[in-house]
Amino acid sequence: MSVPLLEIKDLHVQVEGKEILKGISLRVEKGQVHALMGPNGSGKSTLSNTLMGHPKYQVTQGQILYRGENLAGLKTDARARAGIFLAFQYPTSIPGVSVANFLRTAMKARFGEAFQPKEFRKTFKAAMAELGIDEGFATRYVNDGFSGGEKKRHEILQMKLLKPELAILDETDSGLDIDALRTVAEGINHLRGPELGILLITHYQRILNYVQPEAVHVLINGQIIRSGGKDLAHELEAKGYAPYEVLKEPPKEIVSK
Ligand SMILES: Nc1ncnc2c1ncn2[C@@H]1O[C@H](COP(=O)(O)OP(=O)(O)OP(=O)(O)O)[C@@H](O)[C@H]1O
Ligand SMILES: [Mg+2]
Repeated sequence: MSVPLLEIKDLHVQVEGKEILKGISLRVEKGQVHALMGPNGSGKSTLSNTLMGHPKYQVTQGQILYRGENLAGLKTDARARAGIFLAFQYPTSIPGVSVANFLRTAMKARFGEAFQPKEFRKTFKAAMAELGIDEGFATRYVNDGFSGGEKKRHEILQMKLLKPELAILDETDSGLDIDALRTVAEGINHLRGPELGILLITHYQRILNYVQPEAVHVLINGQIIRSGGKDLAHELEAKGYAPYEVLKEPPKEIVSK
């Protein structure tokens, strides 16, 4: 069997001395979309920040393997260069830095020598056209005054240009209207393919009406208490998280695709 794109083994993570993730195991293969669902405060963003190597999130036990290599000790920028992409739940604005400049810098960092500055304009314009993004977007400051939908468009544009191998999308569900939700979903469907693995983090199952995941995992109180196929998302929608929250211990056998 080939090496999985992402393999998380018994991951324990502390934030400011408090254990938030309590033994998570998960495997994402290339070409798959895995949805990670869970109530507020269950540790979803903690997992995404840990995967990206945020210094505040301390791995106290377990491992994260990316393409078979242990990520311990690898800083955030090195992880990004290696093809890991994180779309933040709450992206910050960067006044003074245009979308075009931001993406040019990011592409240079990601592709190094292989990045051809002369080609940038063409590649950038083509990507915007393909995603149906207005040209005026290029000169706006990153996330500055962006609507929810525009932030999502920017996220998808970044992914298209940076060509990650692993994309972790920590989705804001609150405040996103149905059009913005569709934008993300269409973007994900446009980008998904055999070379990309996606961890789609979401509180509600709404987005999964548009994106069909290969697997769904339920995170409660820092533990994955259930994994299954896409139907699990519908079950959660119907029952909510409450019936799962009484489970103090995760089941012995966790189905993992
Ligand atoms: N940087 C941090 N500093 C202090 N506490 C943190 C930090 N990050 C996470 N936590 C704590 O870890 C727990 C899990 O938070 P996390 O943001 O991972 O939840 P979440 O599942 O993403 O929730 P939501 O659905 O609201 O986005 C919370 O108790 C939170 O207060
Ligand atoms: Mg979160």
